[in-house]
Amino acid sequence: MWEIKVFDEDRELLEFIAEQLLAYSLKSDPVHIALSGGSTPKALFQFIAKSDIRDAVEWANLHFWWGDERMVPDSDADSNYGEAKRLLFDLTDIPAENLHPINGTLALESELARIDEESQAALDTLHGWPSFDWVMLGVGEDGHTASLFPDQVDYNADTCWVPASHPETGQARISLSAEAIGHAQRVSYLVIGAQKAEIVVKVFADDDSADEYPAANIYSFEGDTEWLLDTNAAKLFMADGG
Ligand code: 6PG
Repeated sequence: MWEIKVFDEDRELLEFIAEQLLAYSLKSDPVHIALSGGSTPKALFQFIAKSDIRDAVEWANLHFWWGDERMVPDSDADSNYGEAKRLLFDLTDIPAENLHPINGTLALESELARIDEESQAALDTLHGWPSFDWVMLGVGEDGHTASLFPDQVDYNADTCWVPASHPETGQARISLSAEAIGHAQRVSYLVIGAQKAEIVVKVFADDDSADEYPAANIYSFEGDTEWLLDTNAAKLFMADGG
C-alpha cells in the first residue's frame, strides 16, 4: 500500500509516529526499526523525550538501526546515532544492545562488512534479504533519501549496505541500499517544512520526470509505504490538486 498523510500540525505528525512506536513496542516479538538521519528526526526524538509516551514504550522490545550514517565520531553533531542517543535514547531505559549504530570512526569498508553481518544475523529475511519492520526516511531537497543521492544510486546493488559520499561535501557515508529498503515491511518518509514543498511535487509527479529522484523510486516492494507530511511540505502538492 502507498499512502500520503498530511498533518495540520507538526505535533500531530510527531504524535502519530510516537504512537506507532508505542504500538510496535507492545508486540510480542522484537521489532527492528531503521531511523533516518538529518535534522527532521531530531524533532521527533525531542517530542518523544518530553511526552508521556516515552515511559509507556517497552523499549526493550525495540531495536534501532540507522538507515545511513556519516563516517564521523558519535560525539560529532553530524552523527545520526550520536544525536538520537543524546536527544532520546539516553533518556530511556533501552538496553544498549538494542542500539545498532554504524561506527563512524572505523574504516568504512570493514564497518560496512560488520554492520552487514550484524543485520543479517539479527533480522528476519524476505526473499533472502534482511527485512526491517520499519524504515523511517527523510528526503533531501535534491530528492535523495538515506545517503542515496541522485546519479549515485545503484538500484541493483546486491548488498544490504552500501558506501556513499555526500555530493557536495564529499563526506563519507554508509547507507542502506535501495534494495534493502525495498525489502522492509514498512517505509515511512517523514517530511516537514516549506523547504521540502518543491521536492514533494517533483517526487509525486506522475510522469518519468520523477525518476531522477531516489525518493521517488525507493519504497517497500511488498509492504506499506507512506509519506507523512506537514501542511507546509504538502502545500504545493495540495495546491496542484494532489
Ligand atoms: C542524512 C539523512 C538524509 C536526510 C535528508 C533530509 O543522514 O542526512 O538520512 O537522507 O533524511 O537529507 O534531511 P533533513 O531532515 O535535515 O531535511
